Amino acid sequence: MKTVERVEALREAVAGLRARGRVAFVPTMGNLHAGHLTLVREARRHADSVVVSIFVNPLQFGPNEDLDKYPRTLEADRRALEAEGVDVLFAPPVEVMYPVSLEQQTRVEVPEISALYCGASRPGHFAGVATVVCKLFNMVQPDLAVFGKKDYQQLLVIRRMVRDLAMPVEILGVDTVREPDGLAMSSRNQYLDVAERGIAPRLYATLRAAAARVAEGERDWDKLADWIRTELDGAGFRTDYAVVVDAATLLPPTDKSSRLVILVAAWLGKARLIDNLEMEIK
Ligand code: PAJ
Repeated sequence: MKTVERVEALREAVAGLRARGRVAFVPTMGNLHAGHLTLVREARRHADSVVVSIFVNPLQFGPNEDLDKYPRTLEADRRALEAEGVDVLFAPPVEVMYPVSLEQQTRVEVPEISALYCGASRPGHFAGVATVVCKLFNMVQPDLAVFGKKDYQQLLVIRRMVRDLAMPVEILGVDTVREPDGLAMSSRNQYLDVAERGIAPRLYATLRAAAARVAEGERDWDKLADWIRTELDGAGFRTDYAVVVDAATLLPPTDKSSRLVILVAAWLGKARLIDNLEMEIK
């Protein structure tokens, strides 16, 4: 595996890979866990070579968020990616990604969908994500890029950006990888203390219980969302949002909606956890 920090070295390395066939790309912020590595394996299955980036993107963090505290474990990440047979690791310093100040940086705005849910709680977050992903796509120029469904709204924002700006990249979404007790793997799970870690699986358990209610015939989506919020707050979370929405639009379900997704974000101590569950309805 080649590790590069500069765009010129990246382009040179990727040119060599492109000569061998399809190039897949997995953007990350590092501190890699089994969820990230599953994305890498999926990338490998769909392409001839795999490029991974590790960059903790300041543009997607709010002023009071965990940018400084976000876990950085480059050496361990490098070893894990090497063991997965990754071809190129792009780990740029901030000045390579943002040679101009963040205020001067051109941004990519995906309207409407970026303002909902996580976007409402974290103003500017999805513009920061879309901008860095657009920039990384231009640097790597992959045929395919892989994202996790764990960040369901993020995946939809990326799909819209690619569609609206006619970016020549195929987007692949991968199912959420979970701990044995159901907790979605996340770098932010490290912020949980032992007692909170014991409560955390209730997030997914509550989503499953809500889906079971739908299977039994529940169709009052606001009532179901309220029920989820009450369950989570009762278990010790501080629910940020809980919604039941159309899985394609993220808007309230209509008569035509056949695929729904329950989206939740909830604080547990210092950690803001997100999770979701997709379901089909007849
Ligand atoms: P990060 O949180 O590091 O996640 C990188 C990728 O891994 C994302 O596509 C995310 O959805 C996926 N992922 C994280 N946890 C997962 C899990 N438990 N199962 C499956 N996939 C999982 O998301 C970001 O970084 C950033 O916003 C980024 C896209 C890199 C832009 O900065």
